[in-house]
Parts: sequence; C-alpha cells; structure tokens
Amino acid sequence: MTPVDLDYQQLLDASLDAARRTAGAGKVADYIPALAREDPDAFGMALASVEGEVYGVGDWQRPFSVQSISKLFTLTLVMARGGYDVWQRVGREPSGNPFNSLVQLETEHGIPRNPFINAGAIVMTDHLHSLTDGQAAETVRAFLRAEAGNPSLGTDPEVAASEAEHGHRNAALAHFIASHGNLVNPVETVLSEYYAHCAIEASCEDLARVGLVLARHGLRADGSRLLSRSEAKRINAILLTCGTYDAAGEFAYRVGLPGKSGVGGGILAVLPGRAAICAWSPGLDPAGNSVAAVAALDAFTTLSGLSVF
Ligand code: DON
Repeated sequence: MTPVDLDYQQLLDASLDAARRTAGAGKVADYIPALAREDPDAFGMALASVEGEVYGVGDWQRPFSVQSISKLFTLTLVMARGGYDVWQRVGREPSGNPFNSLVQLETEHGIPRNPFINAGAIVMTDHLHSLTDGQAAETVRAFLRAEAGNPSLGTDPEVAASEAEHGHRNAALAHFIASHGNLVNPVETVLSEYYAHCAIEASCEDLARVGLVLARHGLRADGSRLLSRSEAKRINAILLTCGTYDAAGEFAYRVGLPGKSGVGGGILAVLPGRAAICAWSPGLDPAGNSVAAVAALDAFTTLSGLSVF
C-alpha cells in the first residue's frame, strides 16, 4: 500500500481486530486503586492527521486517565518556555529499568536518567512549576484543553487523591531527589502537581489532537509556533528512546514510532509530518504498557508501512 492509497479508517478497523486478539492478556494497574475498576479489554483508537481530519474506532471518545502520557506535555511545556537548564538536572538516556525504579537514582546522585521515568517527570514538574509561577498542572490542563479543543477536559480528583494516598514510591523518589538538592519547590507541592497532571482525563481523540503539535514539528492547532522544529525533533527522539521505559526497544521494534504510554492504558504515538495516533486499553504488560494498544499500533504501522524507519 503506498501512502496515496492509505485509508486511515480501514487501518484503524484492522488495528482494532489486532487489539481484540490480545483479549485477556493484560492486567489493569491496581497500585492506584481508583484505576483498578477499568475493564482490561476496553479499547479505543484515534488518528488525527496534520490535514485536520480525525478518525476513530471503538471507545475513541471515552475519557481515561492519561497518567504518564502527561509527562510528554510537562517536557514539551518546559522546552516551550526555554527551560533548557533542566538538562543539568535530568538526563536523556533510556533507563533500562522500570518506570518507578529507585535503583539508578542512588548511583547517579539524584539525577534521573530521563524525563519520562517517574523520577525525571517529578523534576520536570518541579521545573515547570517554577517557570509558571506555581501553575504546573494547570498549565498542562490549559494546553490540553486548547489543543484538543475540549474546554471540559480536567483532572479527576478521585484518581489524584488515590495516587497520593498510595504514592509511597513517588514520595521516596521525590525525597531522595530533594536530598541531593535537585528539587526547588517543596516535595509535597511537587508531588501534588505531579499527581494532578497524571490524573487528567482525556480521550483518544483529545490526545491525538494534542499530539499533532509534535507531528506538525512544533506548530499549535491555531498555527502559532510552540516549539522550534529542532525542539520538536528532540522531544520525538526522547519519546522513541525512553517513552515506553524498559520496553522502548521492543516498542521501537514492533511499532517504529515515538510514543508515550501511561498506566491508564493509553499510548500516544507520533508520525512526524503526518499524524498523531492514540490507542487505549487498560490491560497492561509487566513494563506498564497497554498490551492491546501496542498490538494495535504494531498492526497499524505494519499494515500501512508508515513509521519513522
Ligand atoms: O507515578 C505513577 O506511578 C503514575 N502516576 C504514572 C505512571 C505511569 O503511567 C507509567 N506508565 N506507563
């Protein structure tokens, strides 16, 4: 199939079939109790093209907890505000460890490996909080509302509270980072902002529309420039190498796109110059990535021949 012949709706329908074949394989995240009630095999997928068309299949308009997908937006908004000094505080290498691991942080003196593991996202949230006069989560929410064209998009307070109540690992990471002098704002403030942006509810359609900023090489929905082309390239590169944690190699092998996962079951992938695609299904693999969403994206890029490779 050449790009000219591509029928996005047909490709999404075929991706849904591939997702359905994984039924029963994933496990819903239960370390955040408010997420545990989701049906592991629910599925949705949406594609937004740079031409402004949106296609969807399954529960593509149903909101879910974006969780770590929000880390893509904290990084984007820190870069958009010129906060490059954050690179003295966070690295850009894959960690090869689980997203909530404490191990590397000790040997690497409180400097997280990359912005997408929890430790790195906590530092990014801290930096964004400083850059926005104490409005980190609200800045992320406002950005999502504007790009998705959905003014009702917001944080689910029950999910944020549930995560705070059970967030011993994140608290340990944040305190350890602070013990190395790598947090500017108080630990409690940073964690509360971090939980608030992770607990944003958005649909596949919303997230695909937002992801278009990276597909358009940094241009917003209103045509204004948020990121330089080079910044968008760099963010896509970190997405490819670190966006799915210790499974980033396998994700690149199967899907071949920059992508960011969340334990709510969503994965937002970018096809630079062409489209953004979001797939969602709550059943996760051991690395915390949605089994059906990976299968669907794998089918999409394999059938279409569209990937960055
Ligand atoms: O901090 C946490 O554990 C969650 N708020 C986010 C983790 C997450 O989504 C990992 N992604 N697959």
